[in-house]
Amino acid sequence: MSDTTNDTPRARLAAAQIRARKQDAGAPLVMITAYDAQHARIVESAGVDIILVGDSVGTTLLGYDSTTQVTLDDIIHHTRAARRGAPQTHIAADMPFGSYEVSDEQAVASAVRLIRDGMADSVKLEGGARMASQIRAITAAGIPVIGHIGLLPQTAAGSGGMRVRGRTVEEARAILADARAVSEAGAFLCVMEMIPAELAQRVTAALSIPTIGIGAGAGCDGQVLVITDLLGMDFAFSPRFLKRYAELEPAILEAVARYAADVRSGAFPAAEHGFSLPEAVARALESEERQ
Ligand code: KIV
Repeated sequence: MSDTTNDTPRARLAAAQIRARKQDAGAPLVMITAYDAQHARIVESAGVDIILVGDSVGTTLLGYDSTTQVTLDDIIHHTRAARRGAPQTHIAADMPFGSYEVSDEQAVASAVRLIRDGMADSVKLEGGARMASQIRAITAAGIPVIGHIGLLPQTAAGSGGMRVRGRTVEEARAILADARAVSEAGAFLCVMEMIPAELAQRVTAALSIPTIGIGAGAGCDGQVLVITDLLGMDFAFSPRFLKRYAELEPAILEAVARYAADVRSGAFPAAEHGFSLPEAVARALESEERQ
C-alpha cells in the first residue's frame, strides 16, 4: 500500500472544521473533483479533504460544449453517486448556471436540493460581490457555501473568455473586493481560479476563511484540480496550471486497442477466462442428444 493512502476510517470534515484550518495553519487543504462512486471511493482512500462535484462534469464526462448546459438534476445525480463512493469525505456540490442567479429564494431552493437530494455537505457558486446576497441567504438557511472568484467559467464567454483575471489594477481591486464580499457574506471557503499568484497570496492574507486555488499559485490555503485533468484523460486540454499525475488517455487507448485485437484474433477469451461444464452434465446432455 502506498504511503499516500489512508487506511484508517476518517470522520467527514464539517464546514466549520475546514474553515478552522485557516487558524490551524496546518498542511494545505486538498480538494479534487469526482463525479461518480468509483472515483469518489478511490479519492477518499487517497485521503483528500474535500470532493467537489464540479459543473466541470459537463465538459469532462457528459460531452457538453460548456458548463452552462449542466442542470441541477445533473449535479444531484452525480453528487449522490459520489456520496455512495465516499461516505467519509466532505462533498461540495457545484450550483450550476441558472440555478441561483435569479433570486435569493431560487438560490436557497437549489442549495436545499443539493443537500437533501444530492446528499452534499456544502454548495459552491460562482461570483463575488454580485452573489453576496445569495451566499448570505443560503448560509442563513443553514447550508455552508463556498465562493468562487477570479475566472468564472459559467459566465466567462460574456466577459473576456477563459483568460487569467486580475492582471490590471481594476481587475485586481475587483478580485480583492469580491473575496471580501464572499467572506463577509458567510462563505466558509473561497475558490480562486486563474489569477496571478501574487494577487492570490494577497487575497489569502486578507481573508479569515481559507482560499483554494486552481491556477492561483502556491500561496493559497489549499489547491483543487479536476480529476480527469490530473489523471491525463484528455491530452487536448493542457492549461499552464495543470500538473498531470498519470497519463491515462494513452494507457486506456492502448488497453482497448489490445482487447479489440485479441477478440478479433481469437486470443481472448482463453480457457482460463471461461467456466467448464461438469463432465457428468456434459455426458447427460450427450446421451439426451443421442435419443
Ligand atoms: O467545476 C469545477 O470543477 C470547478 C473547479 C475548477 C474549481 O469549479
